[in-house]
Amino acid sequence: MYTQALDIPEPRQQAGEAVSTIAEGCDLPRQAQFDTKIDSDRKIEPQDWMPDAYRRTLLRQISQHAHSEIVGMVPEGNWISRAPSLKRKAILLAKVQDEGGHGLYLYSAAETLGTGRDSMLAALHSGKAKYSSIFNYPTLTWADVGTIGWLVDGAAIMNQVPICRCSYGPYARAMIRICKEESFHQRQGFDNLLTMMKGTSAQREMVQDAVNRWWWPVLAMFGPPDTDSPNSALGMRWGIKRISNDDLRQKFVDATVPQAKILGVTLPDAELKWNDARGHYDYGPIDWDEFWAVVNGNGPCNRERLATRVKAHADGQWVRDAALAHADRKRAREMKEAA
Ligand SMILES: [Fe+2]
Ligand SMILES: [Fe+2]
Repeated sequence: MYTQALDIPEPRQQAGEAVSTIAEGCDLPRQAQFDTKIDSDRKIEPQDWMPDAYRRTLLRQISQHAHSEIVGMVPEGNWISRAPSLKRKAILLAKVQDEGGHGLYLYSAAETLGTGRDSMLAALHSGKAKYSSIFNYPTLTWADVGTIGWLVDGAAIMNQVPICRCSYGPYARAMIRICKEESFHQRQGFDNLLTMMKGTSAQREMVQDAVNRWWWPVLAMFGPPDTDSPNSALGMRWGIKRISNDDLRQKFVDATVPQAKILGVTLPDAELKWNDARGHYDYGPIDWDEFWAVVNGNGPCNRERLATRVKAHADGQWVRDAALAHADRKRAREMKEAA
């Protein structure tokens, strides 16, 4: 899944500093070739020349995206041992495993830009690198698992389908596979909630409570308003970003309101109503102070999530050691046989 607009800028860029489309130490003929490729909607591949700022922007976006996938395993992973039936447990296991796979595709895509996985993970574990703020909210009941699938994965699909057409080949190709799996994630979440809504009044209340808690953080996932997104125009120019944060958010609201009606839940926004003139739903103001507080480390679960991730990495050291030892032995055996 999921980051807020898949690219939270560095602090100096938050302050509104523009990034030039012309690279430092620019090589004009190669820059012209690069621009032609972008203009004709051809893919940029790892061996191609690219401006430094394009490489840096992609690396930040893809690594934030990869981090979000693997941290996203944590809030739902909490519920695997407490799933209410064997069927739901199998579905949740498959989903959480998919998210781990998404992280792997994306780290591989990011590595093609010249940065190693170890350094990306070190940046995540030290708190330097960002991941989606949505995973810093708690999963209090089983209805949270369904709501994450329905709303969080639903928002991820909105965000990620346009990235299948991203100008950078390895990222675009990874996203095609990821989007297919995200679609299953969204549907299992909706199905989970629909089952609960047909159950007892306590189950229905549980769903409504989860939707009340997740709705606003999910809308914030699309990232700051277009007026406060200094990098968006450049991302559009480079074919990394295809649809603006506000337009994606609007598409998500328009798609989700009818689904909420089918479920029979109320979305917690008194200002949410159809606007005939615009041909869209209007919605109330988003609390951006809360969003930035969570992004900057002060959400309800930031410390807990990072500590769990760091522990998982340390606990998995023996697996990495064993895989490396096996690869070394295999290589030695092959060399001996070839000799
Ligand atoms: Fe994912
Ligand atoms: Fe997902």
